[in-house]
Amino acid sequence: MSSHKQKALFLEAKNGQFVVGEHDIPKPGSGQVLVKIHTAALNPVDYKIQQTGALIEKFPAVLGVDMAGVVEDVGEGVQDYVKGNKVFAHGNFTDDQASYQQYAVATTDFTAKIPPNLDFDRAATVPLGFDTASVGLYSDQLGAGLTPPWVEGGRDKYAGKSILIMGGSSSVGSYVIQLAKLSGFSHIITTANPAHQDELKLLGATEVIDRHLSGEKFTAALQKITQQPIKIAYDAIALPETQRAAMSAVAQGGKLVMTLQPAVKEEEGKGRSVTATFGHPYAEPNKIMCSQSWKVLGKWLQDGLIKPNNFEVLPNGLFAIPGGLQRMKDGKISGKKLVVHPQETA
Ligand SMILES: NC(=O)c1ccc[n+]([C@@H]2O[C@H](COP(=O)([O-])OP(=O)(O)OC[C@H]3O[C@@H](n4cnc5c(N)ncnc54)[C@H](OP(=O)(O)O)[C@@H]3O)[C@@H](O)[C@H]2O)c1
Repeated sequence: MSSHKQKALFLEAKNGQFVVGEHDIPKPGSGQVLVKIHTAALNPVDYKIQQTGALIEKFPAVLGVDMAGVVEDVGEGVQDYVKGNKVFAHGNFTDDQASYQQYAVATTDFTAKIPPNLDFDRAATVPLGFDTASVGLYSDQLGAGLTPPWVEGGRDKYAGKSILIMGGSSSVGSYVIQLAKLSGFSHIITTANPAHQDELKLLGATEVIDRHLSGEKFTAALQKITQQPIKIAYDAIALPETQRAAMSAVAQGGKLVMTLQPAVKEEEGKGRSVTATFGHPYAEPNKIMCSQSWKVLGKWLQDGLIKPNNFEVLPNGLFAIPGGLQRMKDGKISGKKLVVHPQETA
């Protein structure tokens, strides 16, 4: 392989196979850095892209949005990074900025230095999950429009209030719990497998409802916890049944945010809004907000205010990704992120 080539995992076509091949090492443009990727994390969106072709303009395509590695080169105008910095970044749905390869360019607006208390693997579990949580809670257009904790008056603003989070053990759900804590919510109620209860309480959940309860049993469990109206619910799972349960809990004038398209409808008269979020920082409505949250994210990780996800490292570098995505699709991933080391692609 020539020195300006690297190994990358290509999705050949919609409904096609993933194949390891060669790809040019990209050059960082203005406001970008070139990252030698040590860890890339897997996400459900990747197998959904394989199934639907969504979000990708042309095939074959390199996928993957979570990366952590070392800065190899910096583009024009970049002042905050130098070669050798350890960073993590939110990639994009383009071949040069995707993470299922050995090198990618990252936009510095959605890049941060890895604090000394984290390694590449843990840092790579943060970008998509965190951004989806933060856009869903704080964006006016793609979320509940709460005041973010990184602006003046945002920290602890929601003291005394309750939030319901469906699926606290998911990657997105774990970051929603932690941001809800920074926002000061007094009751952070989440649904999860009881096996995850202790861990979710350490992240900030105040009560955990067994995720297998539905209908009247779910309502009874929630009412036992609080009689207060739930004005904000975040459904990180967003299956029709979790959406219905969340909607049943949201009070008049309340908001339900979800990670997939709504199966429940906003109800006229009751004024309950339903918003499908999109945790992609490059989306026009998200750019400014996400560039602000990324400015504080490294510090929050360093201070332990945001904790990364648990993870499992898959052997064989990029070759391991298709099998990992299949496990995810089969619902066999519980309370952790799968990660790979692209440099170990033999
Ligand atoms: N809109 C966006 O921009 C965006 C961004 C990111 C993700 N998403 C979507 O959001 C969803 C979550 O993504 P993720 O990466 O956070 O998933 P994930 O971490 O892979 O989720 C797995 C976890 O979800 C839990 N879970 C599964 N079904 C549940 C249910 N009915 N109730 C409560 N918990 C349940 C599992 O619990 P157990 O431990 O009990 O198995 C497991 O721990 C996916 O559909 C993904 O495609 C959307």
